[in-house]
Amino acid sequence: MNRFLTDPRFSGIVPFQSKVWLATPTMHGEEQKWVDDAIRTNWVSTVGANINEVEQQLAAFIGCKYAVALSAGTAALHLATKLAGEKLYGQARPNEGTLRGHRVFCSDCTFDASVNPVAYEDGEAVFIDTEYDSWNMSPEALEKAFELYPEVRLIVVAHLYGTPAKMQEIKAIAEKHGALIIEDAAESLGAKYKLNGQGVETGALGDYNCISFNGNKIITGSAGGMFLTDSLEDANKVRKWSTQSREDAPWYQHEEVGYNYRMSNIIAGVVRGQTPYLDAHIAQKRAVWERYAEGLKDLPVQMNPWDPDKCIPNFWLSCMIIDEAAMAPMVRGERDYLYQTEPGKSSPQEILDALAAFNAEGRPIWKPMHMQPIYRTNAFVTAEGNGRGETNAYISGKIVDVGADIFRRGLCLPSDNKMTPAEQDVVIDIIHRCFQ
Ligand SMILES: Cc1ncc(COP(=O)(O)O)c(C=O)c1O
Repeated sequence: MNRFLTDPRFSGIVPFQSKVWLATPTMHGEEQKWVDDAIRTNWVSTVGANINEVEQQLAAFIGCKYAVALSAGTAALHLATKLAGEKLYGQARPNEGTLRGHRVFCSDCTFDASVNPVAYEDGEAVFIDTEYDSWNMSPEALEKAFELYPEVRLIVVAHLYGTPAKMQEIKAIAEKHGALIIEDAAESLGAKYKLNGQGVETGALGDYNCISFNGNKIITGSAGGMFLTDSLEDANKVRKWSTQSREDAPWYQHEEVGYNYRMSNIIAGVVRGQTPYLDAHIAQKRAVWERYAEGLKDLPVQMNPWDPDKCIPNFWLSCMIIDEAAMAPMVRGERDYLYQTEPGKSSPQEILDALAAFNAEGRPIWKPMHMQPIYRTNAFVTAEGNGRGETNAYISGKIVDVGADIFRRGLCLPSDNKMTPAEQDVVIDIIHRCFQ
């Protein structure tokens, strides 16, 4: 028997009969119609009306000229990264990436799909620390990074959990240093940001922009992604690369390395059925975030922050962070963890275990990239400068590593848009009891 079920702090709470999830797809019926349409008309391929339609819909919604539908957000990020690499450093040989020998500044607190394309293209990611205001790339740390690596010309910035990064500041820094921006809006479709006083959709804020229709996203195709741009040349290049780089010839003729990254017309049918519901999903997610904010306000915790003067998130995931003074002891190894309970205190792992015991799914905050085994030797820059090798056995004091701190004290709460207010009340109750 799970020990939470016999712990007197949780007496009276009954596990959810059907699991309360972090974020699941929400189908409305129209998806079936467009998938059936594709099958009925035999457009069961990577061409067809659903693809054309969703490309037009998303370009119009985001406010850019062109959208190229791809098999995944990761595919969009890869081709965006390759495009940027070519633009900056020229075409590479077929066996080399376009970023060989070059550093790229990357969001640190994100999913690894944001930054892996830099490695696919043989580049070296330099991780830029996070800021507390938005849990996104810190503009101060980015500025410091240009002091350390003035030669860098590319920035990959993600909008965490649906809250836009400080793009006004980041774009100004990029412009000052002549750098291009790849925008990873995989989690933030529908979030708005005030740029020079004008509301702009995320996905239209960088030089190369990407969204995702992964199954857990705000709308989904079960999979899928898109590359978004105002440049016809870039859109055509991405379309070409994504369909095996075919030349205009009577046979298969190739002058460049190709990829099989195009979206299928079946997947596009699911996306097409979802697009009318984007606003409704955002409203439901916002209601979830607001109920948590209200229900947890008496605890020593804060919700994932956003600035109402600067942006409107899409509220994809609701998250919380425990005040330092209310953190019970918790340690994490590479794959395991330990914690203690203390009156009035708790820890992310205790809360996640308690939620799991009652059949609800939370998740740790994205473990920062500079802490990941694969990227542990890559450079990391904080608002104070170099974040590596700055500690000293003979001098006390420590570097401020914001991403590590948010990872340590934060967690993602069950954020499914189909979670009922009654279910959410139980989740909120469980969290309260963790702090008893
Ligand atoms: C920030 C971020 N970037 C990129 C991706 C990759 O998108 P996809 O799963 O569609 O490849 C995801 C999610 O899956 C993500 O959360």
